Amino acid sequence: MSEPVQTPQTSPAPFPTRIFSGIQPSGGLTLGNYLGALKRFVEKQDEGIETVYCLVDMHAITVWQDPVKLRHQTREAAAGFIAAGIDPKRSILFNQSQVTAHVELGWIFNCIARMGWMSRMTQFKDKAGKNSENVSLGLFAYPSLMAADILAYKATHVPVGEDQKQHLELCRDIAIKFNNDYKVDFFPVVEPVIEGAATRVMSLRDGTNKMSKSDPSDQSRINLTDDADTIGKKIRKAKTDMDPLPDHVDGLKDRPEAKNLVNIYAALAGHTPAQVIRDYAGAQFGTFKPALADLAVAKLEPITTEMNRLMKDPAEIDRILGEGAVRADALARPVLEQVYDIIGMIRSKPF
Ligand code: AMP
Ligand code: TRP
Repeated sequence: MSEPVQTPQTSPAPFPTRIFSGIQPSGGLTLGNYLGALKRFVEKQDEGIETVYCLVDMHAITVWQDPVKLRHQTREAAAGFIAAGIDPKRSILFNQSQVTAHVELGWIFNCIARMGWMSRMTQFKDKAGKNSENVSLGLFAYPSLMAADILAYKATHVPVGEDQKQHLELCRDIAIKFNNDYKVDFFPVVEPVIEGAATRVMSLRDGTNKMSKSDPSDQSRINLTDDADTIGKKIRKAKTDMDPLPDHVDGLKDRPEAKNLVNIYAALAGHTPAQVIRDYAGAQFGTFKPALADLAVAKLEPITTEMNRLMKDPAEIDRILGEGAVRADALARPVLEQVYDIIGMIRSKPF
């Protein structure tokens, strides 16, 4: 029988505030990544908080990745971060495989996490589907590597989209169990930061499915690499119902597609959905969609243009990632060495 998940008892209060988050370079960045994660990563950086952001290439290979594409997508994601406003001087930006503390701590956490906890992860169940005998072992262990990403920096806050909530609860359980097992107050119990109007951006083809870089239909998502024309077309063709927009947000309750477009508008404009509804109450989609398309193009086009410019110099992107990795390593390595000491490993090799 698996051990029950323990309820968190400690808060991150004694630990200095540090933000960590990651995105998989397993495809191009989408509007969901931008609104649910990246845009908020930039806000946290600009608030002056210490921010560590990682392209989690080791997570990406839990499902098959073509090596040439993976390298390209990792650079493109880095370019996307910088184009969206991540300043590699103020934030630490790097790719996971260059800082080996992640996988080392990930292994230790594989020995802390319980099979029962992992088996309850809905993302694993969704990704494995009927094929659970044939998916990689790494896909099953994915959340414990994610906990290692975060806790190698003793990060206290993790901005993510809603789909990552359960993984962060597992990260809390791992921190608590480690602290309890070894009778230490070593790891913080992290706080998920899931905020804003677009914590779950839905597919443009089906308002009940998440917008995802792995959806087979390109029409379902807006990519940060899409040009203005493509963005406009995708929004105008987005699935909706026939009714005009309601005069109150409650009227969006059973209208997933309409709700999604209003939320996207709100997040892009920096408004609340209620403000958007106030401005567009009674409007037909024939009016609202072009307004949304104009807003999306105005906000995304500068990012796409800058991304394309940065992608012309891949060596410079690699240099930035390498510099970020050195800074990340300087934070994570001492934490890991303390963990080795706590768990009783001999570390006699001269460093
Ligand atoms: P992934 O692309 O799965 O690596 O996700 C990276 C980050 O983007 C995570 O914080 C996700 O929660 C967030 N994210 C991905 N897709 C969406 C979406 N459709 N809506 C909101 N956030 C998302
Ligand atoms: N699992 C996250 C996702 O797919 C990506 C991720 C890996 C992550 N490690 C992380 C997010 C650490 C936040 C913190 O969206």
